[in-house]
Amino acid sequence: MKRVLGVIGSPRKLGNCELTVKEIAARLPEPASLSMVRLVEKDIRPCKACYRCLMGECPIQDDFRMVLDAIVSADGVIVAAPVYLHGAHSSLQRFLDRGLQFWKRLDDLAGKPAVGVALAGIRDGEGASLLGVENFIRAMGMEVKGRAVIHAALPGEVLLSEEGKVTAARMADALFSPEAPQAENPSCTECGGTYFEFRGGNRVFCLLCGAGGSVSPDGEAIRLATRPPAYSWRGPAARKAHGEWLVGMKEKFLREKERLKEVARVYAGGDFI
Ligand SMILES: Cc1cc2nc3c(=O)[nH]c(=O)nc-3n(C[C@H](O)[C@H](O)[C@H](O)COP(=O)(O)O)c2cc1C
Repeated sequence: MKRVLGVIGSPRKLGNCELTVKEIAARLPEPASLSMVRLVEKDIRPCKACYRCLMGECPIQDDFRMVLDAIVSADGVIVAAPVYLHGAHSSLQRFLDRGLQFWKRLDDLAGKPAVGVALAGIRDGEGASLLGVENFIRAMGMEVKGRAVIHAALPGEVLLSEEGKVTAARMADALFSPEAPQAENPSCTECGGTYFEFRGGNRVFCLLCGAGGSVSPDGEAIRLATRPPAYSWRGPAARKAHGEWLVGMKEKFLREKERLKEVARVYAGGDFI
């Protein structure tokens, strides 16, 4: 039996995120065991930017490792987060902020199937939340098998709406499907993302992977052409290379520490509240 982990980014017990995770798990084509983690209840402290985890162990003793282990041990992951002020709940990013430690688990995480859902209380209120949920999955090197926004405000509303039920069924079908997720049109050819910033003229920038590109008219639609970002995160090899680059930067820092301190010294102090 497959083991599924539900990652819940909401503080609300039996809220729409928790119900969505349970509904998706219940609708999986094959029965699976479901365990869940409510991220806000875990002691996950901010990264101190010491970079010690690159060479040794993270000095922070909290629940991060336990949650990462649970993700690693799962066969598939369902992520559900509420929209707060047009973004995904901060508990997702709080976990990701410790993500230099993913580097040592790349092979365990690579390609692990995951689906991500953002729960928005109002129509058109989702803002950049799905980008946050998708980034949570991709930053660990897992594969986004499905993603969706569901609109539901009051706790439980997600199960009353057709949109909630249909989307849960779609995510359940997608999670362990052997088929690759269908590319949306237009979407980034590098990462499959659909989140772009316009950067003047016809130039666009993929907010998920950093690919640059351009758009041009294609009848009623638009044609999107993207090229790889300067710095790719795609696949375990690129991620490993990034980890090695970070180790090199740490060594560079140790070599140049005194010079860097010297330029910063005149800016020491200041009033902090
Ligand atoms: C602090 C706060 C901010 C919110 N901001 C938004 C928002 O920007 N857009 C939106 O559509 N819904 C917003 N909502 C509504 C929730 O996203 C919505 O109720 C969701 O279903 C909650 O999921 P949960 O029941 O799992 O907590 C907000 C809710 C809270 C508590």
